[in-house]
Amino acid sequence: MIVCVCKSVSDRTIRASIAEGMDSFDELQFELGVATCCGKCEESVRDVMAQSGVCATRCGVAHAHAVAVPAVQPLTFYERKAA
Ligand code: FES
Repeated sequence: MIVCVCKSVSDRTIRASIAEGMDSFDELQFELGVATCCGKCEESVRDVMAQSGVCATRCGVAHAHAVAVPAVQPLTFYERKAA
C-alpha cells in the first residue's frame, strides 16, 4: 500500500528501510522523502513504524512503547490591577 503519495513510498519500502536499520522518523524522512512534500502521510509513516516495533515518537528508541500523554492542566491567567 502506498503510504506517501507525493513520493510514491509504500509501507513495504518503509518496513524494508526499518529492517536495514533506520530507526527514526527523521532518517526515514531524509532517506525516503516521506512527509517532505504535503506532510499528510506523517501519521501513517509513524503507524508503520509502530507496527514494525520502532518507536514512532521522535526519540528513536528501537522498541514500541505507549506514549504517556500528560493530563492537560488548565492555564490560569492573572490580571494586573491598575494602580
Ligand atoms: S503524502 Fe507524503 S508528503 Fe505528501
